[in-house]
Amino acid sequence: MRKKIVAGNWKMNTTVPEGIALAKAVAEKAAQTPEKVDLIVAAPFTHLALLAPVLEGSKVQLSAQNCADHTSGAYTGEVSVDMLKSTGCTWTILGHSERRQYYGETDEKLVEKTRLALEAGLDVILCVGENLSEREAGEHFHVVTDQISSVLFHFSAEQMKHIVVAYEPVWAIGTGKTATAQQAEEIHACIREVLGSHFGLQVAEDTTILYGGSCKPSNAAELFAQKDIDGGLIGGASLKADDFIAIAMAWQSV
Ligand code: 13P
Repeated sequence: MRKKIVAGNWKMNTTVPEGIALAKAVAEKAAQTPEKVDLIVAAPFTHLALLAPVLEGSKVQLSAQNCADHTSGAYTGEVSVDMLKSTGCTWTILGHSERRQYYGETDEKLVEKTRLALEAGLDVILCVGENLSEREAGEHFHVVTDQISSVLFHFSAEQMKHIVVAYEPVWAIGTGKTATAQQAEEIHACIREVLGSHFGLQVAEDTTILYGGSCKPSNAAELFAQKDIDGGLIGGASLKADDFIAIAMAWQSV
């Protein structure tokens, strides 16, 4: 059975004290959430070492939002996978559309970052998704298939056990415009098919695929009820502990 996950991507939000307070609130309420759901919070680099002890003993796992594409050395401003690991975090998000769009993150770089993260023992949430013009041109299946194959086909079936995919249509991120459950499901099914064509049925069945883009307490249950949607990657709504927990609670009715 593949894992059900609700992950919060805090992006560039919260000061350190605000982040600690938010993590404490999430950790306290996490115990109410259905046992089958794993919870993850992806906090800014500056927060990670301080959040690890706050989350310890709760079911909430800690993630970074990015990592460097080199192991160490003269790369001013970058944060390596070993540094991340030493904070106590166990995951990193990679390839978020905001990084692809604003920071020139290419599929080639993502192959390297994913490789380094896995070698360091971090699990990876790899984000994919089409932008509005690609959706309007009917290219969404093609774009997502290409993003999946360009990065993930460099890895083994064994390594896929440590990789979660997040489908985030760029036009639905922070816009209040959610993909309909059907629009999300058809891409998730396509991603599973692409994984199956390369890695075989078992890997396709075992890979957790999250939906992200204006996911909130009011639409989470409908999205999570889809056969190929295994949870959510939550932006705005993860900044309020009650909303984030309410999204995790949506699994109760599914
Ligand atoms: P929103 O939930 O704010 O639309 O953001 C989604 C996202 O980008 C999560 O990584």
